[in-house]
Amino acid sequence: MLPLCDKDLTVRSLCEADLDRLVNYRNDPEVNLFQNWDLPYTMALAHELLAQQANNDDLKPGTGLQLAIDIDNEMVGDMFCHISEDAITANIGFSLDRNYWGRGIIKRAAPILIDYLFEQFQFLTVIRASRDPGNIRGMDTLESVGFVFDEVAPSSVVSRGHLMDDARHSLTRYQWFDRQHRSRLD
Ligand SMILES: CC(C)(COP(=O)(O)OP(=O)(O)OC[C@H]1O[C@@H](n2cnc3c(N)ncnc32)[C@H](O)[C@@H]1OP(=O)(O)O)[C@@H](O)C(=O)NCCC(=O)NCCS
Repeated sequence: MLPLCDKDLTVRSLCEADLDRLVNYRNDPEVNLFQNWDLPYTMALAHELLAQQANNDDLKPGTGLQLAIDIDNEMVGDMFCHISEDAITANIGFSLDRNYWGRGIIKRAAPILIDYLFEQFQFLTVIRASRDPGNIRGMDTLESVGFVFDEVAPSSVVSRGHLMDDARHSLTRYQWFDRQHRSRLD
């Protein structure tokens, strides 16, 4: 159940008060470079995003939720999580305000979400994430939290009006469990 907390870091449901920050960093061309929203990213689009989860403030099968990441109670980025209706698969994504890159924040936030998903949904077998093949920083982050590169699916997503290749990664329950086991031995 949200929020998920670890010391100074909190993962919680996005709320109205976050929208100024969200709009601000989503308009940063560096943050937008490999992401699928059009620029300018307007406040109206941010309200639309929030409206899509109007009656939902927790991670539930069959729904997608935009999550805020706080460091010391300040919103610094977001993650998205969609859980399939049967709760067998989930998808995640993330973006961080550029002022907070290079501090290992997603490296901490993503595992909190991943642990929660595998612990909470006992039939969840795999979490997937995808990225633009050119997004090397995104790839590094995914691999650092345990995702394994699967394939580049050619011309398989529409992003900003263009048909794009999609680099796909996954983390199975077995891989997650094995990783946890090995980290306990270290
Ligand atoms: C992808 C993105 C989240 C990566 O940001 P990030 O800060 O590099 O992410 P991480 O949490 O993995 O942090 C790793 C960085 O923190 C540094 N770091 C600092 N302190 C650290 C610590 N205590 N532990 C781990 N890493 C630490 C690492 O050295 C690394 O920096 P480097 O790449 O300059 O060497 C960010 O670039 C972003 O928001 N991009 C735009 C949106 C996007 O592309 N999303 C991803 C789609 S797949």
